[in-house]
Amino acid sequence: MAQHTSSLQKVAIALGDRSYDIHIGTGLLGSANTWAGLPKAQAAMIVTNDTIAPLYEAQLRAAISPHYKKVHTVVLPDGEAHKDWPTLNLIFDALLGHGCDRKTVLFALGGGVVGDMTGFAAASYMRGVPFVQVPTTLLSQVDSSVGGKTAINHPLGKNMIGAFYQPVRVVCDLDTLQTLPERELSAGLAEVIKYGPIADMDFLGWIEANMDALMAREPAALAHAVQRSCEIKAWVVGQDERESGLRAILNFGHTFGHAIEAGLGFGVWLHGEAVGCGMVMAAELSKRLGKVDAAFVARLKALIERAGLPVRGPVLNPADNALDYIEHMRLDKKAVGGDIQFVVIDGPGQATVCGASDALVREVIDGGCA
Ligand code: NAD
Ligand code: GLY
Repeated sequence: MAQHTSSLQKVAIALGDRSYDIHIGTGLLGSANTWAGLPKAQAAMIVTNDTIAPLYEAQLRAAISPHYKKVHTVVLPDGEAHKDWPTLNLIFDALLGHGCDRKTVLFALGGGVVGDMTGFAAASYMRGVPFVQVPTTLLSQVDSSVGGKTAINHPLGKNMIGAFYQPVRVVCDLDTLQTLPERELSAGLAEVIKYGPIADMDFLGWIEANMDALMAREPAALAHAVQRSCEIKAWVVGQDERESGLRAILNFGHTFGHAIEAGLGFGVWLHGEAVGCGMVMAAELSKRLGKVDAAFVARLKALIERAGLPVRGPVLNPADNALDYIEHMRLDKKAVGGDIQFVVIDGPGQATVCGASDALVREVIDGGCA
């Protein structure tokens, strides 16, 4: 097997007997060391999609093959529009078709869509098999591969069917980010930026100072962005794995963002694009609630714009756009009895969850959409 020059940092997710490490570095995919110490099994299954398979499947297969008698691969159709039951069933069809037993290790090779679906398949196949996250987008390296949220979409709402199920390891090979389309890089930066206002204003300052390096995919900048994002996520998930409170802050921008994704149809705007724009709306709501000043909103908006992300929401319904957003947001998982809950910035570097009147939310939407 070809050996690659590699660098490695580890971030630990502390969850008792479900603890695991996030490996972050270059040259990890093809390095034999990366795959040592995983649960023993006869078979492994790589779950990936038709964009990523030609790029990275052979490399991963070669690197993990010494550990398993058989390595199978299932290739899913690419895209958020396929994060659904029929596509999930392709994973079960492949597992059952190959006679895979309950020790089979699944490897999710791809972005958040592949990761979320593989995790859900792992949670439910034979009532649970181990899985490894091998995220290949910036968004999945800094957010979706970490913390055990797995799901598919329902036509009526985003990520509505799923389970909390932790991977046994996360492997973020920064080299894979070099082939990422620009639009996807920007989408990932939305989730990187998110960690600043909710938890670490020093990190926000670092992102501002290093945005050009991030956009140029400089490995050192990417490494720091992934590591610090994962550290913050690990800190949050370690305290509130199942989102009974604190973990909701990771959804800053997502309530408005999910309305955009569902309202336009999944896949029209990328998740990260919707979150970027949603953060501007959520910051504006925070300002209107008296929690941050206009300068804070302008600072965040400018950074989101520099990341190449939209900062104004789409019009979902010209007849009553705000109502359309509000109806989608009532389906958000944080909603309690139909009352929408928003993650708002409670002063720079801190977030909280609260309700807001429809009138105030309407003002934000009316002022924030194209
Ligand atoms: P994605 O999985 O759709 O990947 C984006 C695109 O990039 C796809 O076309 C993919 O095939 C392609 N791609 C992936 N890696 C590539 C590479 N290295 N080179 C070239 N192309 C590559 O999108 P995403 O942004 O990674 O993830 C979004 C999904 O993640 C959404 O479904 C969202 O709901 C979910 N999510 C989940 C969590 C969680 O906690 N589980 C958190 C955030 C987002
Ligand atoms: N991406 C939000 C969470 O993991 O809770």
